[in-house]
Amino acid sequence: MGAKKLISNQSSLNGVIKVPGDKSISHRAVMFGSIASGTTTIENFLPGEDCLSTIACFRKLGVTVHRDGSDVTVEGKGLSGLQEPETVLDVGNSGTTIRLLMGILSGRPFHSVLVGDESIGKRPMTRVTRPLAQMGAKITGRRDGEYTPLSLSGGALEGIEYKLPVASAQVKSAILLAGLQASGETTVIEPEKTRDHTEHMIRLFGGEVTSNGNVVTVKGGQQLTATHVNVPGDISSAAFFLVAGAIVPNSSIELTNVGLNPTRTGILEVLKAMGADMTIEEYESKSGEPAGNITIRTSSLTGTILSGDLIPRLIDEIPIIALLASQAEGKTVIKDAAELKVKETNRIDTVVNELRKLGANIDATEDGMIIHGRSGMLKGETVSSHGDHRIGMMLAVAALISNGEVYLEQSEAVAVSYPQFFTDLHSLFL
Ligand code: S3P
Repeated sequence: MGAKKLISNQSSLNGVIKVPGDKSISHRAVMFGSIASGTTTIENFLPGEDCLSTIACFRKLGVTVHRDGSDVTVEGKGLSGLQEPETVLDVGNSGTTIRLLMGILSGRPFHSVLVGDESIGKRPMTRVTRPLAQMGAKITGRRDGEYTPLSLSGGALEGIEYKLPVASAQVKSAILLAGLQASGETTVIEPEKTRDHTEHMIRLFGGEVTSNGNVVTVKGGQQLTATHVNVPGDISSAAFFLVAGAIVPNSSIELTNVGLNPTRTGILEVLKAMGADMTIEEYESKSGEPAGNITIRTSSLTGTILSGDLIPRLIDEIPIIALLASQAEGKTVIKDAAELKVKETNRIDTVVNELRKLGANIDATEDGMIIHGRSGMLKGETVSSHGDHRIGMMLAVAALISNGEVYLEQSEAVAVSYPQFFTDLHSLFL
């Protein structure tokens, strides 16, 4: 099914890659640009399918958005400038789009219908709709409101204090976006700290937000002002090359302009703990978020344990970390990561099933996986991304260390977050 790609073993990877724009920040830049007053310009926007879904939704809400490659201009008319959409809002494969959008639409006095692809149709939504309903939004959906299609009528909201049952930046962000439109204050308490790009963005657009450990508070009725957003490279995209450089023999890869926000750098801590030969050079950021260049070389690795508050800081990197662990000496245990089951696919099952096809020694657990390292070289087989971009890229990297031919089905899924992935990967070949 989909585009089947042959990827072969490599004896070495060498070169420099400018990592494409961060997906989480690109979504938020369009969203904040749309609800602020004035013209927002975005540099190094990620033209991946997910972020294009966000642009398409805001155009349907009456916002003028121009895009030329990775340069985007958003003509914001403030929150009150958003208009009732005439047709359904289609978020495609993007969980960030649908969840954050619901936070914005909750405070708008009109009706919208939100739909997405087959994967979105399986992802839990009451984690977002419950707190938004508590604030005053009316949201209904399939299976008691758990799944798309969702129907949302927004209006006057009241601030709440909400304790998140799961560590989710998407849920936190939806509540904060509703909180900006609510009466009084809105406070979100997280079980573990999650990515804080929404908080950064509120400040960048001239708003106020207070963060104290895991407690975040916004006041309602704030007016946001257009600005320039320089999006740093996505560490979640860089992760595939960090692991490729570490596990392919005779390799040295430099990744430039990598976002180094500490709520996202769990992968770097894991690489260090496993013994990776890596140099990080942080520089003065142009984006309000830290960034830097990372060089990774072929490394001898040892197993490790990933758990607790580290998990939200590398949640999207777990598929590629599983591959990394298969090449380490000893056992790696990943726990406290049950959230993986509700990502674009059930990532515990897809990672374990696909890596096993290639000969890795890996077991699924209730809340993660156990990887027995040094299962030997991986072997050739036909594998599938199952339509999940991060599974597709992980399997493409696995193919580089397989001693047979690897065919990757549904390889086109990588375009969700990294349209140039295969071009960049090939640029490292001899
Ligand atoms: C994201 C948050 C994470 C992450 C997703 C992007 C965001 O999801 O997995 O890829 O941009 O806020 P959760 O917040 O649901 O864990």
